Amino acid sequence: MKQNKATALAHPNIAFIKYWGDKDPDLRIPVNGSISVNLDSLYSRTSVEFDPALVGDQLTIGGRVPDDLAVQRVNQFLDHVRQLAGFSTFARVTSENNFPTGSGIASSASGFAALSLAASAAAGLELDQRALSRLARRGSGSACRSVPGGFVEWKAGKDDATSYAISIAADDHWELHDCIAVVSKEHKETGSVAGHSLAGSSLLQGARVADTERRLELCRDAIINRDFQSFAEIVELDSNLMHAVMMTSQPQLYYWQPATLAVMQSVIEWRKGGMPACFTIDAGPNVHVITTGDNLSTLTAYLDQIPGVIEVLVSRPGKEARLIDI
Ligand code: DP6
Repeated sequence: MKQNKATALAHPNIAFIKYWGDKDPDLRIPVNGSISVNLDSLYSRTSVEFDPALVGDQLTIGGRVPDDLAVQRVNQFLDHVRQLAGFSTFARVTSENNFPTGSGIASSASGFAALSLAASAAAGLELDQRALSRLARRGSGSACRSVPGGFVEWKAGKDDATSYAISIAADDHWELHDCIAVVSKEHKETGSVAGHSLAGSSLLQGARVADTERRLELCRDAIINRDFQSFAEIVELDSNLMHAVMMTSQPQLYYWQPATLAVMQSVIEWRKGGMPACFTIDAGPNVHVITTGDNLSTLTAYLDQIPGVIEVLVSRPGKEARLIDI
């Protein structure tokens, strides 16, 4: 072990074309590719120290020991890093998020992207961005998309070697903003791990997956050409398709609340009125509303007025996961 301690920072991401369902749940090989953007103003900062004096891995998130399931997920992940590095030393892991837990922003993507970089550097592994993205994917699927910078595509692949994410445009390529309308801060009942395993029970999942290449191409082209109208259409369609699968799974998964729908309908009206805005929703009730730089203040003011919107978090595109000095 050349080095034994490192700290990394990574941003969460919001998917425009969603990951929902696995071909291989253990390796997190998805049934379809996805596209996302990193969120600059939000981050996880994670330090890892391999210490021969430890008799087990130690983990704190925001100064607290998380629940057993989260601890087990990190242990398993560190076992894989130890296997790659060829040693058995346990680690002390401390992680902080600058966004409130329970704000409905998944911290698993930024958390596992930062953990992958910090743990591999602390273990003396020199991984390139592709290898790092593959490693992060094992911790949380969407974490592989928080490794490269800016606008990112996760190539579904067919196995561990071929399933990883790459940047398709830099963070400054298009000045989009994600305005997250928070309508609930309650912990979701069914997390994405369980959700992915239910996807195949919906009659609609086959149709959603079969059409993915077309949606990926439309979304990729809309980003490259900065074509907001085409972007808005494909992003909303993709989110609706995923939620249709969720609602028709067995058992059914409903993530929306009345305020979720109120925001969605308002966004559609505003766009009809000429404002570049579109919505996308993950496995929770909060709505990500995407707009362009010059419409940001009008949009956030509109969102603030909708009954049921508790707060609006704003972010522009963010950079790749990186090592930092502390
Ligand atoms: C709805 O990456 O959170 O946000 O691999 O179980 O951690 P795990 O799942 P996760 O799933 C993300 C699901 C989603 C859509 C997306 O981000 O693409």
